[in-house]
Amino acid sequence: MAARTCLAIVLAAGEGTRMRSARPKVLHPLAGRSLLAHVLGTVGAAGVTATAVVIGPGEDVAAAEIKRVAPAAECFVQHERRGTAHAVLAARTAIKQRPDDILIVYGDTPLVHAASLARLRAVIADGAAVAVLGFRASDSTGYGRLIVEGGELVAIREEADASARERKTALCNGGTMALAGNIALAILERIGDHNRKHEFYLTDAVEIARGMALSAVAVEVEEDEMRGVNTKNQLAEAEAVAQQRLRQAALDAGVTLIAPDTVYLCADTKFGRDVVVEPFVVFGEKVTVEDGAVIHSFSHIVGAHVGKGASVGPFARLRPGTRLGEGARIGNFVEVKEALIEAGAKANHLTYLGDVSVGANANIGAGTITCNYDGAAKHRTEIGRDAFIGSNSALVAPVKIGEGSYVGSGSVITQDVPADSLALGRSRQVVKEGWATRLRGLKSLGKKTKA
Ligand code: UD1
Ligand code: CA
Repeated sequence: MAARTCLAIVLAAGEGTRMRSARPKVLHPLAGRSLLAHVLGTVGAAGVTATAVVIGPGEDVAAAEIKRVAPAAECFVQHERRGTAHAVLAARTAIKQRPDDILIVYGDTPLVHAASLARLRAVIADGAAVAVLGFRASDSTGYGRLIVEGGELVAIREEADASARERKTALCNGGTMALAGNIALAILERIGDHNRKHEFYLTDAVEIARGMALSAVAVEVEEDEMRGVNTKNQLAEAEAVAQQRLRQAALDAGVTLIAPDTVYLCADTKFGRDVVVEPFVVFGEKVTVEDGAVIHSFSHIVGAHVGKGASVGPFARLRPGTRLGEGARIGNFVEVKEALIEAGAKANHLTYLGDVSVGANANIGAGTITCNYDGAAKHRTEIGRDAFIGSNSALVAPVKIGEGSYVGSGSVITQDVPADSLALGRSRQVVKEGWATRLRGLKSLGKKTKA
């Protein structure tokens, strides 16, 4: 049998007023990537053959994010915000392609697993017209209720429209639904807006399907998967779940996290074997840490590649474009960005390395600064292999320090240094013998005249 086709429709046109933010709700970050990117990643993993995303009018930032994370997805605009069923119908032309399964996923429900979407699809493949993910909420405020009678899903009631008895129903609507593609449009077009909010509720699809003598099924999943993000508080709760999952995955893959709860990961953080991460480390987007590397406490790492056996921190900041070679060492209070630090090179203390390449085994002394910015443009510094930069030196870019060269402490280097030489870029020391004694003599004279 040929594989079933599946259209995913991601709803992301809501205003998200409860977030109290200028940013569209689905663009808020969770574990370093937008809610929307999480959902698009999950539907991708559920084997869909087409993806439609419904956004609000003028949401160029959302459209750009969709292009970035799911270039094949098609964007549809819901011009007026008239409810979830109305939003789904914005993707009418995609629905008309008659896929076998249609998955409807809310852009504000980022923790749903691809396996649960697959379970919904399996129910549709078995002949149901509607399948819905439900969960038992610790606090059911704001969720629709799944009304199940004799093992069958008979209706979904929005909280505002539910009777007191229905509100007590333990199973809540997660908002993730599958529809049989051949009947979806007929069901959706029958949905009206006769409810408290005068909105077209997708949840009415259940009763309508039953009225058409079709069947609806509820599939129960864990609460954590179904956490919807409507407020900053719910965003923080979802973040806690996402972090817990990422830490568990890292531990399962053999990473040593000494105090897992204090380490913040990003959805795309990648670790090799025998990596050790000490307490209180933050990983942002696009970080890879290779085998045997150690990340010491209080380090902040974004967009960086940490090579085999390298050592970072404590208190190091690696910014985007950092690449550390095998065994490189970046110590305390060192900031690195757009930098290639080759194998065995070290910058152990108090340094800024920006727009730079540092050759193998070079030693960057404490307090070295690459002066990469002249107020208008950025310039590069090249430091050759085995070079030795004395403490408290300023390397004024663009500048090259040749292989094996020495730069004397406290130098301000403005010109290229050839290989294997010594550069001293500082004024000569002046010593005035007896100067301090004379000064003290003058001071004591002054005191005597005052008395
Ligand atoms: C919805 C469900 C509720 C469920 C809950 C789960 C409906 C009517 N209610 O309520 O049963 O328990 O999710 O989290 O479906 N959206 C649009 N256009 C619109 C309205 C909404 O694109 O006109 C999008 C939103 O961006 C959001 C999603 O649809 O991603 C859900 O909308 P939201 O207003 O958050 O619905 P809830 O009140 O949470
Ligand atoms: Ca919601």
